[in-house]
Amino acid sequence: MKQPDIIALCNQKGGVGKTTCALNIAAGLTLLGKKVLLVDFDPQAHLTYSLGIAAHDLKKTVYPVMKASLSLADALLEHSGMSVLPANMTLTEMENEQTMFSDHEFTLKNKLAGVRDKDYIIIDCPPSTGFLTVNALACSRDIFIPLQMEFLALKGMGRLMSRIEEVQKSFNKNLKISGIIATRFDSRKKLNNAIMESISERFGDKVFATVIRENIVVAEAPSFGQTIFEYAPKSHGAEDFLNLCEEIVKRK
Ligand SMILES: Nc1ncnc2c1ncn2[C@@H]1O[C@H](COP(=O)(O)OP(=O)(O)OP(=O)(O)O)[C@@H](O)[C@H]1O
Ligand SMILES: [Mg+2]
Repeated sequence: MKQPDIIALCNQKGGVGKTTCALNIAAGLTLLGKKVLLVDFDPQAHLTYSLGIAAHDLKKTVYPVMKASLSLADALLEHSGMSVLPANMTLTEMENEQTMFSDHEFTLKNKLAGVRDKDYIIIDCPPSTGFLTVNALACSRDIFIPLQMEFLALKGMGRLMSRIEEVQKSFNKNLKISGIIATRFDSRKKLNNAIMESISERFGDKVFATVIRENIVVAEAPSFGQTIFEYAPKSHGAEDFLNLCEEIVKRK
């Protein structure tokens, strides 16, 4: 069986839509008939909570899998047709105990290496460029960067780019930035359009043609533990995420 395409949703800037994109891209790809493993790799565990899972009560999470005290198979949950590797606050320990992980930057890669029954693995990264993000990037083929089309959207991108280059050089020469996703887009806002233009000039066809519009139901769905396709299948949000997933599948 072939290896899954591993995609990291990554941006050190907080609140840009990484978790929302990870969840709804995974759900959209599942709707398109793909087999998906969704990995919560953020100690905030927003992805896990967004699926209605009480992360704080969980014992079987990504952290004991990283520590090799639990197998990947034993940690996986089935949710909305996807497999989910949940997280909770214990994952912060991984940042503190870096040197205790035998393969350091390749810890996550080694754990996911045996996965052969999925088409995609989608990883939700924390808002930092630290050890957890480096682990996610060391095992990924593609990076998708969600961006809000606001003033300062590109601030910090320089640092993110140099971190990505470091990971490419040291740990993963196959890694590439393959998608910029405009999130919470509002075409009525002049600034949104102006920033979209300058991002398209800078990143060219890496910018997905589909933009994810600002849509209140996208923000509401997680409080019901649902994906956008379950919560509001006829919404702009569902339409945008499905279009984005069709682009992702075509680009492969
Ligand atoms: N298209 C959208 N329309 C409306 N609200 C949205 C949309 N996308 C994301 N949001 C909301 O924006 C907020 C931030 O999104 P999200 O949690 O996905 O960002 P993040 O980058 O994962 O944040 P963090 O850096 O803390 O992990 C959330 O409240 C989310 O519900
Ligand atoms: Mg998040």
